Amino acid sequence: MEIEPQQGKKLGVTVTGFDHTTATDADVEALKQAVYTSKIAVLKDQDLSPQQFLALGQRLGRPEAYYEPMYHHPEFPDIFVSSNVPENGKQIGVPKTGKFWHADYQFMPDPFGITLIYPQVIPQKNRGTYFIDMGEAYRRLPAELQAEVAGTRARHSVRKYFKIRPQDVYKPVSELIQEIEQKTPEVVHPTTFKHPMTGETVLYISEGFTVGIEDPAGGEVDGDLLKRLFDATGQFDEDLEHDNIHLQEFEKGDLLVWDNRSLIHRARHTTTPEPTVSHRVTVHDTRKLYETEEV
Ligand SMILES: [Fe+2]
Repeated sequence: MEIEPQQGKKLGVTVTGFDHTTATDADVEALKQAVYTSKIAVLKDQDLSPQQFLALGQRLGRPEAYYEPMYHHPEFPDIFVSSNVPENGKQIGVPKTGKFWHADYQFMPDPFGITLIYPQVIPQKNRGTYFIDMGEAYRRLPAELQAEVAGTRARHSVRKYFKIRPQDVYKPVSELIQEIEQKTPEVVHPTTFKHPMTGETVLYISEGFTVGIEDPAGGEVDGDLLKRLFDATGQFDEDLEHDNIHLQEFEKGDLLVWDNRSLIHRARHTTTPEPTVSHRVTVHDTRKLYETEEV
């Protein structure tokens, strides 16, 4: 196994010669360390069945199946399927997922540390995923903004981007909203936390899921702070040219493993819809997303 920095990129490493069936525990540990410190690892030349992809994920941690079953792979519910390619006339998984800035499961009480994506059908144009390193983005914030954020907590919800399911057709919207709020009530996480594996301070907010900021006493902080943070970190840049934004491209055989604590990501916009299919496995590693604060 060889790990090398991605040439000419702000972040990420390329990993060649990784075989999850023969990798030693030390190899797996080295891969995870590379993910924590370099944020994205691109495993090259992977040729895996869905079952083998899941087995690779299991070497890195404990898989968490997505809470909405419509995203599940028909045989392996631990695999999340993003697809706009029907199989035998049937929709598998969900099309057009994640076209907004987010960290996976940020709206849940116990988000996982590692996300793995294995592209299956790769578009000719517009391939890739956008990322922002929210550790680096925090370091680049003006000192006044860092000071404003200190000690606050952020509230997160899936409500803005919850996807209507086939069974929701003809339902009143109020019924759906009620279900979303019951099943996935808002969660609160520290606005910044120390990455438990690296000690880095991470600004844990995203335009897709973060809906408010509370002061240490639990009172609402003026909504403007969140907007200023989105703006300063590059999340309002619709041209996706902000210096914090990294485009991670991939080719057939690439398997992306990334640090879901410090990275937020966003699917790439396609002007002309092209066939796209990718499989995702998400795993909890040996620690929680962040250490519970001392009271
Ligand atoms: Fe995602």
